[in-house]
Amino acid sequence: MDKLKLGVLISGRGSNLQSLIDACGETSFPAEIACVISNVAGAAGLDRAEDSGIPANVIDHREFSSRDDFEAAVNEALDAAGVELVCLAGFMRLLSDGFVTRRHDRLINIHPSLLPAFKGLRVHERVIGAGARFSGCTVHFVRPATDEGPIIVQAALAVHAADGPDALAARVLAEEHNIYPLAVRLIAEGRVKVVNEVVEISGCRPPTGVLVNPAEG
Ligand code: GRF
Repeated sequence: MDKLKLGVLISGRGSNLQSLIDACGETSFPAEIACVISNVAGAAGLDRAEDSGIPANVIDHREFSSRDDFEAAVNEALDAAGVELVCLAGFMRLLSDGFVTRRHDRLINIHPSLLPAFKGLRVHERVIGAGARFSGCTVHFVRPATDEGPIIVQAALAVHAADGPDALAARVLAEEHNIYPLAVRLIAEGRVKVVNEVVEISGCRPPTGVLVNPAEG
């Protein structure tokens, strides 16, 4: 079986990268990581790649005079590694329309909210500040506007009254680590189609049941 070749772009800790490394470590998983690129030297995620024997490059945006030059270097590295699907995993640079369009439906991102709510940064703080009863995370195809694009997989969970941003972030992150490999697997299995900017997935069903927050008693 030919595995789908992934390129993972990171800027920091790389826990989502780790979830993809772990998934790809399963023989039956239909994707493999061909390269990891960090725009930040010394990012912890680089050690994770190295520990797993995955080729990792630092492409520091500050060493380029323009965004276009930086992105050209990133594209060159991805193409050289034969990458078919790019996974943004805590990659903290905005990408140009040109970069995004070139990889239409071959570029995905994970965001720690139930998109389209709470795009952008400081998500958990804003979720709590808004009094939202539920939060979660989303894997989506990337489009030029930040945190927009067809939604592939989401996980939802209840916000607890005692949650601070860190506690909520930790519970959401645990779900991120489930849904990112799931989204990659569905794509690699050829089960994901984008129709009129909405994702259709074959062979899946929605879960049953409803969550209500707060629960009484
Ligand atoms: C995650 O919360 C992800 O959703 C967001 O940035 C964070 C990256 O964390 N885009 P990590 O580097 O994968 O641990």
